[in-house]
Amino acid sequence: MEERKGFGTNFGFLMAAIGSAVGLGNIWGFPNKMGASGGFTFLIIYLVLAALCGFVVMVGELALGRKTGKGAVGAYQVLSKRFKWLGWLGILSAFLILGFYCALGGYCIKYVVLNVGNLFGAGFGNNGLASGDVFGNLLTNQLESVIYGLIFVLITLLIVMGGIGGGIEKFCSIGMPCLFFMLVIVIVRACTLPGAADGLKYMFVPGWAVEHGVIAKAPSFINVLSTAGGQMFFSLSLGMGAMVTYGSYLDKKQNLEKNALIIVVCDTIIALMAGLAVMPARFALDPEGPIGGPKLLFITMQNVFNTMGTVGYVFGIIFYLLVVLAAISSSISLLEVVVAHFCDKARQKGKGDKRKVYAVIAGLASGLLCVLVCLDGLGANGISPFNILGIQPDANGNLPGWSDCWLDFLDCVSEGIMMPLGALLMCLCIGWELGPKAVDDECCLEGNAFKSKTFFNICVKFITPLLMLFILAGQLDGFFGLGWFS
Ligand code: PFF
Repeated sequence: MEERKGFGTNFGFLMAAIGSAVGLGNIWGFPNKMGASGGFTFLIIYLVLAALCGFVVMVGELALGRKTGKGAVGAYQVLSKRFKWLGWLGILSAFLILGFYCALGGYCIKYVVLNVGNLFGAGFGNNGLASGDVFGNLLTNQLESVIYGLIFVLITLLIVMGGIGGGIEKFCSIGMPCLFFMLVIVIVRACTLPGAADGLKYMFVPGWAVEHGVIAKAPSFINVLSTAGGQMFFSLSLGMGAMVTYGSYLDKKQNLEKNALIIVVCDTIIALMAGLAVMPARFALDPEGPIGGPKLLFITMQNVFNTMGTVGYVFGIIFYLLVVLAAISSSISLLEVVVAHFCDKARQKGKGDKRKVYAVIAGLASGLLCVLVCLDGLGANGISPFNILGIQPDANGNLPGWSDCWLDFLDCVSEGIMMPLGALLMCLCIGWELGPKAVDDECCLEGNAFKSKTFFNICVKFITPLLMLFILAGQLDGFFGLGWFS
């Protein structure tokens, strides 16, 4: 059988895993969720969840992958009788996330080009239009959106075709330090703007968000728990096999526990740093602009750069480039979840790993989903799920949040349901079917110590699954407006 090539160095593994974790979720999700759901209070809840669930699931996923040396599907098939099929849930989640991630990645590339156009006064800049109109035009210009989305798919595909060491590790080892450096530049500029303090207050002051003098309705504790938990799973790329897959390429000598801790800590630090880059600028220069989601990224932030004059476009290029890097380092891990499984199968049959062929097939399939999301243009073009399924508004004229556009629908199914469900089932598999010893043994290979063994064993059996049940219920409640916790 052909050798299964993994990461060349532990640094390369860490950059790839942190790259998977650091993505669009850190930039538009975390800062706003933190600001709107209690500021410092949210941060404390997030940190507790990151320790009790994030770290535990991270160690578990990395261990399952490394123990079996197989991607998500193979790992569960080898280890478990009851959860044999769990890897497929991961592949499906990865595929759905890729669909909307590539569309958004494409928009980010467009915004790098836009700011280059602005800098040189070229026709492909703002052309005197307001940011809202520029973004609106992009959403309704289906051909342009599709082209940018497919460029993003192609970049992802080319890197994954290069393999773990030659593609993913190389890209992330250079891309992640660059991302960090660019983020620091943007933070320094954002935090020194007059009025930046309002953004810092929004993010950090304990208590519920105050916007335009209006105190938002305090969310219930379960709501905050599920918002923080859902964000944490998405942000750490957990519950869908990405870390199982990356773990399967990690050398047996490396310390799993330490690596898991570094990934969780770095992802959280970069999410906070992203907040420092975005929120102060938004409050200083566009206090009325959208404060979360794609509109924060593409309308508010572009407004911020427009207001800064020529130098703003330089910051715009740096900012959107760093977002592109963050998005690519995540999308390659998503595609790798799918590709790794088929390569493993081919290798087992003695056919070589056929990586390039499978990467192209998986890339084409996710490209199709990306085209759908681009054509939909966040619901601007009349083909959103509610248009197609003929869903009627309720008595108050509201539509269910998940039906507004394909992006929200895919996000709801993957981030809202499949990821927390996948992580919950993985915990049950480790805690109650395989037993935590399976993970303990893997962590203690080659003389490594598993310092948090007792903590891990208690969490994986009792605390993490229980918390995850709440998170899952809260996510379902939020996405489908079930009113369980309001
Ligand atoms: N962690 C990424 C983000 O925060 O944007 C999203 C993600 C990437 C989720 C890779 C899952 C994954 F496998």
